[in-house]
Amino acid sequence: MALLSDTLARVKPSPTIAVTTKAQALKAEGKDVIGLGAGEPDFDTPEHIREAAKRAIDAGKTRYTAVDGIPELKAAICAKFLRENGLTYTPAQVSVGTGGKQILYNALMATCNPGDEVIVPAPYWVSYPDMVLLAGGTPVAVECGIESNFKLTPEKLEAAITPKTKWFIFNSPSNPTGAGYTRDELKALTDVLLRHPQVWIMSDDMYEHLVFDDFEFCTPAQVEPALYDRTLTCNGVSKAYAMTGWRIGYAAGPVALIKAMAVIQSQSTSNPSSVSQYAALEALTGPQDFLGEWRKVFQGRRDLVVSMLNEAKGITCPKPEGAFYVYPDISGCIGKATASGTVITNDEVFATALLEETGVAVVFGAAFGVSPNFRVSYATSDEVLREACARIQSFCASLV
Ligand SMILES: Cc1ncc(COP(=O)(O)O)c(C=O)c1O
Repeated sequence: MALLSDTLARVKPSPTIAVTTKAQALKAEGKDVIGLGAGEPDFDTPEHIREAAKRAIDAGKTRYTAVDGIPELKAAICAKFLRENGLTYTPAQVSVGTGGKQILYNALMATCNPGDEVIVPAPYWVSYPDMVLLAGGTPVAVECGIESNFKLTPEKLEAAITPKTKWFIFNSPSNPTGAGYTRDELKALTDVLLRHPQVWIMSDDMYEHLVFDDFEFCTPAQVEPALYDRTLTCNGVSKAYAMTGWRIGYAAGPVALIKAMAVIQSQSTSNPSSVSQYAALEALTGPQDFLGEWRKVFQGRRDLVVSMLNEAKGITCPKPEGAFYVYPDISGCIGKATASGTVITNDEVFATALLEETGVAVVFGAAFGVSPNFRVSYATSDEVLREACARIQSFCASLV
């Protein structure tokens, strides 16, 4: 009897984690490596949040909690949705999990049957298709190229929907492109969804607070209240509050779905860390002013990276509305050879050669479903970004 399950054969390990691990290993060997692969802010968790966690430990908040979140945190999440998104939810409509990832996974596990299709606009966050596959569903990737700024059009959404479509996963601002949908662009998509009552909407709003210039964030249930009863609005503290290691994500939606998600969680991980829940409570209810400061820093980095990458030969880099990623197109580099003779046949070869020859680690586009591209995470200092982009420029200039 084989040790490994058929389920495991359906999925692959996260390529973004693989790139980060490879970059760390090269660094440990003493190589001069700049890692632009990791999807996490370089800031520390703010002090008031860390202090709240310490207080929770000292107060003995170290035991099991209710499976899908302590009541205080659920209340704070309801207040957040009302304050920031104009959405009214009761605590019974809220689920807290071990990171945004577990929340999305719980929802898919609780709802997908074999044959159920889940529409995933590409480029997508690497985990969506694999989580759908783990849950027994069928991911349906819909390619959205640079010509539409990597955004899904209503025509493409309409064409992808079938009687078997169970979910539509929406992510704005997006990982890996940073693309954010305007209210009008989102309304055009929700108009399509209104015509297909069998389709549920999973909105992944993880990068809500990381938007630039005068871009206004919006989420489907807010833009089209008629979809409220079949929308799961997902969010978390990882990216906005620099809390990736604390592992707290949350969602709000119809009670029946939330209850089903709690069943999955109760038989897998039980409650998310008690201490982390108190930290997340402080994140959502404490001062929010640093978010504006961080936004400014990220916006400056975006501008730096976009302008430097657009100066690299063979690269076109659109300017995204949010998150901390850019997703440059490298069509102009395909077919060329590096100084050591490697022919750049695709974006994976490009990323490998870039890492080996210049020490800059990026994630190749095929991992996100649209090629030839690569993803840069610019959650690092201006100085490091300048050096990395300069290396990318000279790498591209050396291609023949
Ligand atoms: C779009 C998107 N959704 C969800 C997550 C998961 O976040 P968490 O660390 O809270 O699990 C990530 C993390 O990279 C992400 O980029």
